[in-house]
Amino acid sequence: MDGTLGLGGHTAALLEAGAGHVVGIDRDEAALAIARERLAGFGDRVTFVHADYRSLRQVIAGLGRTAVDGVLVDLGVSSMQLDDAERGFSFRQDGPLDMRMDRSSGQPLSEWLATVDEETLANVIYQFGEERRSRRVARAIVDARAVAPILRTGELATVVRRAVGGGWQRVDPATRTFQALRIFINGELDGLEAFLEEAAGCLAPGGRMAVIAFHSLEDRIVKHTWRRMAQADAATVRVVTKRPVVPGDDESGRNPRARSARLRVVERVA
Ligand SMILES: C[S@@+](CC[C@H](N)C(=O)[O-])C[C@H]1O[C@@H](n2cnc3c(N)ncnc32)[C@H](O)[C@@H]1O
Repeated sequence: MDGTLGLGGHTAALLEAGAGHVVGIDRDEAALAIARERLAGFGDRVTFVHADYRSLRQVIAGLGRTAVDGVLVDLGVSSMQLDDAERGFSFRQDGPLDMRMDRSSGQPLSEWLATVDEETLANVIYQFGEERRSRRVARAIVDARAVAPILRTGELATVVRRAVGGGWQRVDPATRTFQALRIFINGELDGLEAFLEEAAGCLAPGGRMAVIAFHSLEDRIVKHTWRRMAQADAATVRVVTKRPVVPGDDESGRNPRARSARLRVVERVA
């Protein structure tokens, strides 16, 4: 099972490496449509499912199965989502302030920002963005929306950059706030721990689960949950990667977004 099918790069690699069948899940219909085309050559060796990977048990049951041999999740957003201004993830390009991976449910960021109270907003920016100036940023957003609703990514980026202030060279000052709001609006960390436990229960003995995380908040949850599970009295998993696998210089050079990726793997023990 590839719980974050995206454009199907990993699924294609798994199939080429000999996987018999891959269930590809994504919560983004636009990603699924592209993956369907890209993977057409593999015929019925791929099953496409529009769902949240956190519902994997239901997905597996719906396919008449009880277990899978492997689970992969590549967390976060895809380059396609980031680069499409219309999806509203990017502070580099102006677009409607949406940021939902699944546009068929939930509320666009602009709607939430219009009503959230300042303290809750500051807490989200601090917790999910690790932004030291979260209170200042939250105040600036609340002040700006009192003048006019914030409906575009460009407007939000301007407000945040001004609030964070200071010179910047490598990292745009809007980066942390945009990351925080994206994680919040998509509930990216909600239920991650429960998912890791449930997914282990769906693995056949000897089956493996791999998670790729892109920031320390996610990676910490993966590391701690698996360590706890592996050390439990009746452990269901064994940690395969004592240290996370990280991209080499050549991969980071070819794909700078891979720079912060960390891959961890566990194996189901009987
Ligand atoms: C980093 S990309 C994956 C790219 C993919 N590995 C590939 O080779 O193209 C993450 C994908 O996971 C999807 N996604 C994120 N959270 C999800 C969730 N909770 N359930 C299902 N899909 C999710 C996103 O919509 C996005 O397409």
